[in-house]
Amino acid sequence: MICRLIVFAVIHDSTHCLLRLLLLAQLLVLSSSRPTSCIRFGQMSHHLDMLVNISKKLHELVSINAELIGHIQANRLHSLPHMHHTLKHFSSLKLNESLSELFSYSQSFKLHVEWLKTVKENFSLPSQAAEGASAQLRHLSDLLSTTLQQVRAEGPRPPPLPVASTTFEVLQYSVEISERLQVFANWSKRVLKSLQKKSHCGRH
Ligand SMILES: *[C@@H]1O[C@H](CO)[C@@H](O)[C@H](O)[C@H]1NC(C)=O
Ligand SMILES: *[C@@H]1O[C@H](CO)[C@@H](O)[C@H](O)[C@H]1NC(C)=O
Ligand SMILES: *[C@@H]1O[C@H](CO)[C@@H](O)[C@H](O)[C@H]1NC(C)=O
Ligand SMILES: *[C@@H]1O[C@H](CO)[C@@H](O)[C@H](O)[C@H]1NC(C)=O
Repeated sequence: MICRLIVFAVIHDSTHCLLRLLLLAQLLVLSSSRPTSCIRFGQMSHHLDMLVNISKKLHELVSINAELIGHIQANRLHSLPHMHHTLKHFSSLKLNESLSELFSYSQSFKLHVEWLKTVKENFSLPSQAAEGASAQLRHLSDLLSTTLQQVRAEGPRPPPLPVASTTFEVLQYSVEISERLQVFANWSKRVLKSLQKKSHCGRH
């Protein structure tokens, strides 16, 4: 009877200890994995969805006829980033590199959108959409820069941007930035989806 009690006490004591160890281990795992591996993919995607919606309103035209679009789409803003759309690119994504690429692209688009906002204000054109797009890009950049904290934090240098001299030119720039922002947002969502599949975190 006494022997049994002692054995029970020993077992009881060791399970207690084991439980504590398990809890401690759980805490260590939680605290060490949070900042590095749990990237807020969901939040980033949300900002990209909002960006697509706002981008469509950048030129503030109810409808643009196809001929005008054809005329307008000429590449005028050479400093806008070009994304790689190849299958090879998507299959060889590395978390580190892809996130810093995304970061520098979103910073670059932010600079272009801020420039567009000023240009529009100069021509007394509505600039709320440009402001909204800029805010979404800022949120996205902030999330990315938090994730990349250890790697890098500075953005690209301001691109050389042209001077707009007519309202039509401003419209051309608006349409071009609008189209390119939508391509960027689509591309980024695809990149985030591939990265999320490879990471061990669930949706956040
Ligand atoms: C974007 O716009 C569509 C259609 O107007 C809407 O259904 C969707 O909820 C919007 N998405 C976001 C993230 O606001
Ligand atoms: C990310 O990049 C940094 C520096 O560029 C490097 O030290 C680190 O090991 C990389 N991490 C991964 C998971 O590749
Ligand atoms: C806006 O107008 C001011 C004053 O005319 C000018 O100095 C500035 O360069 C213009 N900004 C842009 C982005 O065109
Ligand atoms: C973005 O993706 C959506 C759906 O995936 C598609 O309907 C749209 O045409 C794409 N836009 C651009 C500019 O690629």
